[in-house]
Amino acid sequence: MRPRRSAQWYAGEDRNSYIHRAWMRRGLPGDAFAGRPHVAIANTASDLTPCNAHLDEVARSVSAGIYQAGGIPLNLPVVSLGETQVRPTAMLWRNMAAMAIEEMLRANPIDGVVLLGGCDKTIPALLMGAASVDLPAVVVPGGPMLTGTFRGVPLGCGTDVWKLSEEVRAGTLPAAEFQRSESSMIRSRGHCNTMGTASTMGLLAEVLGMTLPGVAGTPAPDSRLLEAAHATGVLAVEMVDAGRRPSEVIGHGSFRNAIVALAALGGSTNAVVHLLAIAGRLGVPLTQDDFDRIGADVPLLVDLLPAGRFLMDDLFRAGGLHAVLAEVRDLLDPAALTVTGRPLVEHLAGAVTHDREVIRPRAQPLQAHAGIAVLYGNLAPDGAVVKPAAASPHLLRHRGPAVVFDSVEDLHARLDDPDLEVTADSVLVLRGCGPKGYPGMPEVANMPLPAKLLALGVRDMVRICDGRMSGTAYGTVVLHVSPEAAAGGPLARVRTGDMIVLDVAGRRLDVDVPAGEWAAREPSAEAARAYAAPRRGWERLYVDTVGQANTGADQDFLLGASGDHVARGSH
Ligand code: FES
Repeated sequence: MRPRRSAQWYAGEDRNSYIHRAWMRRGLPGDAFAGRPHVAIANTASDLTPCNAHLDEVARSVSAGIYQAGGIPLNLPVVSLGETQVRPTAMLWRNMAAMAIEEMLRANPIDGVVLLGGCDKTIPALLMGAASVDLPAVVVPGGPMLTGTFRGVPLGCGTDVWKLSEEVRAGTLPAAEFQRSESSMIRSRGHCNTMGTASTMGLLAEVLGMTLPGVAGTPAPDSRLLEAAHATGVLAVEMVDAGRRPSEVIGHGSFRNAIVALAALGGSTNAVVHLLAIAGRLGVPLTQDDFDRIGADVPLLVDLLPAGRFLMDDLFRAGGLHAVLAEVRDLLDPAALTVTGRPLVEHLAGAVTHDREVIRPRAQPLQAHAGIAVLYGNLAPDGAVVKPAAASPHLLRHRGPAVVFDSVEDLHARLDDPDLEVTADSVLVLRGCGPKGYPGMPEVANMPLPAKLLALGVRDMVRICDGRMSGTAYGTVVLHVSPEAAAGGPLARVRTGDMIVLDVAGRRLDVDVPAGEWAAREPSAEAARAYAAPRRGWERLYVDTVGQANTGADQDFLLGASGDHVARGSH
């Protein structure tokens, strides 16, 4: 039998092993310390993360599976992040959660871990932390909520909030009706049911090889989720016995597969920063350009909001992730492994598509080129990201005058001013929203459109921002501009009236200002003022050490794996 890591605490007859065992005995079987694998269940259940509130029930099924397989299950509540609740933005806390998870996995006497997540940042944080510790680890994605309905039609959470609120601003939906839709939108346990960030990262956790094959996308209230949770508990014990660690499961081929899947699924742009951050923890040389190089020509096959019509339980009914991956199987790395020890592609053998409206055949895609485009130019020396599948085709090549906002507060104060000089050809520029500038890189890049243009029927404009965009949002939005304004990026020097030139096909984002004038121009004093605010605690540490979006916005001191070794004991 492979020596257990937990034996470093429990084996022996000295005073310290006595202390470690004695305090843990309460209710554990007599042979708990005789070589049985100790498997933590890192649980992000929280009443303040409503998308994950059901994970305690999932944890009980995992626990039963671990126990059945001969392991000792140990519940480990970890930092949880409720996307809709946490201020100023859950992204500010992703790296803190990942760091706390990493440290608690390393500090405790465990041999492996089952990771329970769901809401946007929770699966990325769990994967980042587990990758750094590199103990055998497997994810159970909490699953999406069921489809809500309003006025007899389905409601997609997130996406339809933006749509309905724009209707209110345009005067085509009474405010009272908008309020009435609120109680119809969230119908069950689970995370957002569009192809937003939570759905995307749950599915990509499986594509990376880090879940029981076939579980991702199972709706949260579906009994098959609990069945899969039980089987995951059994698998976790097997993984400990086999010593199967994230560094053995996830390699560059796994990220290639994730990029292909991201495009075919029409997944969230947030996956770019999360995958880059996970790769950074594993030391896998993934770059932002890989998303364009590998994914740009992958067709969009899944007709889900925000790019399409259906929702996550439709995808599950239609055949789920495996049916989608089977369509692009030739683009997948055949050697990329999963937690089962077998390649991902081997698990696709039984994939069947039951509804060709939801999952299109490869020959009849929704869009031929669905991946992320990475743009460069004098506005984005280190790159910016745009999702053509969510954009308006007529705006993908555009030249228009900038209307610049120094902060979200500035945007909200002036956007609906009837005197704001803006037309449908204008380019809205919002800065001060990057990792350092906000801080935390919030999902504000999908700026609302000026009310007077909405009233004229304008539904999309080119928007540019150094922040992120909700995975449930849509529009011609250039985001993740790097370096951000607060880190000295050129976005800080743009002025209202400057001509912005966007050329997605040419992968360019430029400002058309004479070179001499541009070089001499000072950054906006207003943007600099917002960044200079005094800070304390995590926020200070975050701002001082966070990287830019093009490298995953992780802390510089958290890059790379540090392993499970702890040099000194506590007694
Ligand atoms: Fe939790 Fe959307 S708010 S997934």
